[in-house]
Amino acid sequence: MSPSSAFPLRHRTRGHHRHHLLLFISLLLSSSSFTSAAGDHDNLIHQTCKASSTTDPNINYTFCVNALQAAPASRCARLPRLGLLSLRLARDNATDTRCYIRQYMKSKAKVLDPRAKAALDDCLELYSDSIATLLEAMQDYRAKRFADVNVKVSSVIDGSDTCEDGFTEGGIASPLSRQNNFSFQLSAMVLSIVNKIQFH
Ligand SMILES: *[C@@H]1O[C@H](CO)[C@@H](O)[C@H](O)[C@H]1NC(C)=O
Ligand SMILES: *[C@@H]1O[C@H](CO)[C@@H](O)[C@H](O)[C@H]1NC(C)=O
Ligand SMILES: *[C@@H]1O[C@H](CO)[C@@H](O)[C@H](O)[C@H]1NC(C)=O
Repeated sequence: MSPSSAFPLRHRTRGHHRHHLLLFISLLLSSSSFTSAAGDHDNLIHQTCKASSTTDPNINYTFCVNALQAAPASRCARLPRLGLLSLRLARDNATDTRCYIRQYMKSKAKVLDPRAKAALDDCLELYSDSIATLLEAMQDYRAKRFADVNVKVSSVIDGSDTCEDGFTEGGIASPLSRQNNFSFQLSAMVLSIVNKIQFH
């Protein structure tokens, strides 16, 4: 993932006018099914992930559904709640990743070459920043400051890109590919849901 590969995503999520109509139509279609039987809310997870993965090729539909279904009390959640749940998932995941990096560095302390150590140090800092940023974004989200959520969550995506690039640019196999991928996808899910809510 290079910084340039993240650009179209940010561009798309900030310059969303072209997608206004499309999102509006898909909301109309999906909201018609919100009202009826139980089980439709579980559908909302599928619908949301389908829409997200269609608009953003970086989001894997199966990953999205699995992540949201595993979130506590997600089954009956409506869209605004799903947005908050995905923010929480992103934050918990970043917290877990920070812990993982610390443990990894400790266990490999004797064998890490200086470039790998420097890259890991950077990632540790990036994830610490991301955790703080996601906490702020959750407050913004609750206060419906969606533009701020968008900017902050985009910076978390940049963070996962920057972390990954730190290894690839040094010609080192990244030990954090999975984690960076999770962070990227969970953040992209938040952006996608926030975009949907903004046009509600
Ligand atoms: C999507 O995610 C699922 C489960 O996480 C995985 O099995 C599948 O290979 C992924 N698909 C792609 C295209 O990455
Ligand atoms: C982070 O996300 C991945 C993929 O959904 C999941 O397997 C892992 O358990 C998550 N970790 C935390 C702490 O949520
Ligand atoms: C995440 O990993 C999957 C499977 O390896 C890949 O298809 C997808 O492009 C990755 N996404 C990002 C944003 O790196």
